[in-house]
Amino acid sequence: MCGIVGYVGESNALPIVASGLKNLEYRGYDSAGVALSTDGRLDVFKSEGEIDDLELPESHPSTCGIGHTRWSTHGEPSDANSHPHTDCTGDISVVHNGIIDNYEALKNELSDHEFTSETDTEVVPHLLEETYDGDDLVSAVEHVVAQLDGSFALAVTAADHDGIVAARRDSPLVLGFCDDGNFVASDVTAFLEHTREVAFLEDGDVAALTDDSVTVRSAGERVERERQTVDWEADSAEKAGYEHYMLKEIHEQPQALRQTISGRLDVVNGEVDLELDLPEQYLQSVEEIQIVACGTSYHAGLYARRLLEEHADVRTSVEIASEYEFTGGRDPWRTLVVAVSQSGETADTLRAMRTASAAGARTLALTNTVGSTAAREADDVVYIRAGPEIGVAATKTFAAQVTTLALLTVEVGRTRGALSGDRASTLLENVRGIPGAIQQVLDADESIRDVAREYADSDAFFFIGRKLGMPVSLEGALKLKEISYLHAEGFAGGELKHGTLALVTEDTPVLAVLTDGANASETLRNVKEVESRGAPVVGASSLENAESFLDASFTVPELGGLEPLVANVYLQLFAYHVADELGRNIDKPRNLAKSVTVE
Ligand code: G6P
Repeated sequence: MCGIVGYVGESNALPIVASGLKNLEYRGYDSAGVALSTDGRLDVFKSEGEIDDLELPESHPSTCGIGHTRWSTHGEPSDANSHPHTDCTGDISVVHNGIIDNYEALKNELSDHEFTSETDTEVVPHLLEETYDGDDLVSAVEHVVAQLDGSFALAVTAADHDGIVAARRDSPLVLGFCDDGNFVASDVTAFLEHTREVAFLEDGDVAALTDDSVTVRSAGERVERERQTVDWEADSAEKAGYEHYMLKEIHEQPQALRQTISGRLDVVNGEVDLELDLPEQYLQSVEEIQIVACGTSYHAGLYARRLLEEHADVRTSVEIASEYEFTGGRDPWRTLVVAVSQSGETADTLRAMRTASAAGARTLALTNTVGSTAAREADDVVYIRAGPEIGVAATKTFAAQVTTLALLTVEVGRTRGALSGDRASTLLENVRGIPGAIQQVLDADESIRDVAREYADSDAFFFIGRKLGMPVSLEGALKLKEISYLHAEGFAGGELKHGTLALVTEDTPVLAVLTDGANASETLRNVKEVESRGAPVVGASSLENAESFLDASFTVPELGGLEPLVANVYLQLFAYHVADELGRNIDKPRNLAKSVTVE
């Protein structure tokens, strides 16, 4: 995710803002920048690449500055797309975290302004240029944010304004207070070496910071935000207080998914807008979608296959990317090849994509990484917008991949006339419910930890589920293997009795997905098979009275058939807590890499 830091006070702003940016590095970024205002002048320094590559002056007299680390969502990583963005005069600068959904419409209304980037953010300084009279920047920001749809954390400075104005909606911002000035930042890590006195802004807040005062308004009225003292060490703050990045990223899922779907859903009309360039006629004539991917992304592909076949009436195959050269490339003219890859750099996936392309198939990259090789080489690209993922084991990106693929399903299904507006509306309503449902699962984290600890010394684990529960079972087992180094296998529930049942004993817990969308009652038959061999069964379930026939049961909220994606979060937490109990190196498991760039 992007990072914001701003300081106004008595000290020199440049070293403070620059070190704040270094503190935000852990969030992941592809470009960085700083704006410094002093005596009616605004100086902006920004570029693609590392913070250390920023060409900053040795010293600068400003005592008021804002800085930004960018993780691209609109427009490639480039100098021009880096923040801060400025208006036509160069006197107003803005840094932004989030997505402005209606930026295109706003940009059209600003036709007499000169835009220099491809970002959604740049509309903000130009809108401020229209509104700001050189006197009241706070009111101007209030006026502008009222025009924005979407999510944002914003920090604004202007050449002739002695301070910073910040605003938030659905994207965090925290204030920091110290003797010689005040801070605003995406998280406390940015300024922890200066102060632990903080106050968190709430949605709708607009804060005005000067060197000796901070005032906050909401809906135009002055409000107080409670001051707190954080007792984090710098190291734990990097992980927002979580012990590991993986746990942080698991808990980030609701926010990440809101970003994934932001501005893309028209629930009323049952339409989506993925900004894809796939011609209607082509989509109508496609006979097969081939998904190519590795690891967790492959499991997201398996999940999507069921969605595409059920709702878009298109034959869909999912190929392990490294096997594609032996199986792929059939009838390329009527095949859309979708390469699913968090990093967009996995060598096996890139090779599969190139094989498909060389055979004449159209390719679509579905990735988290703007400007990645997959994004550049594919005919079309759609971003999952999950924000950077640092833990090697993929968690939030799996959820964001599946969610984006569900949106693609609606696009394909609607275009092919296979999905009625009403059915699409229902599906999208359920997609919109995913973040809230996942939050309910996250709220049960402690009880999952207790169950995980109870079984952490088991011989082996088996995961079962059907339909959408099947890829989730594979993913649950993969998570556990990756980070705990214990033996784990996932199956379609019905397959267990064809061999693996021989391994089931009272020392091999079985984790079952017993929710809608996973043919729960049939999976229940498989649960009985393992229970009669003495195996303890842990269920993620939407069945009534599940606790009466399972050794441990976790409730999955109803979501119109998409429940297995939510159940998956229980399995992520289960894997995490087992590995934690065993003292594993969770964020960097042995022998594994986040991005595998060799075949
Ligand atoms: C590596 C990672 C996995 C990931 C896989 C595919 O093996 O450890 O977590 O699922 O690569 O990565 P991609 O970036 O293509 O999704």
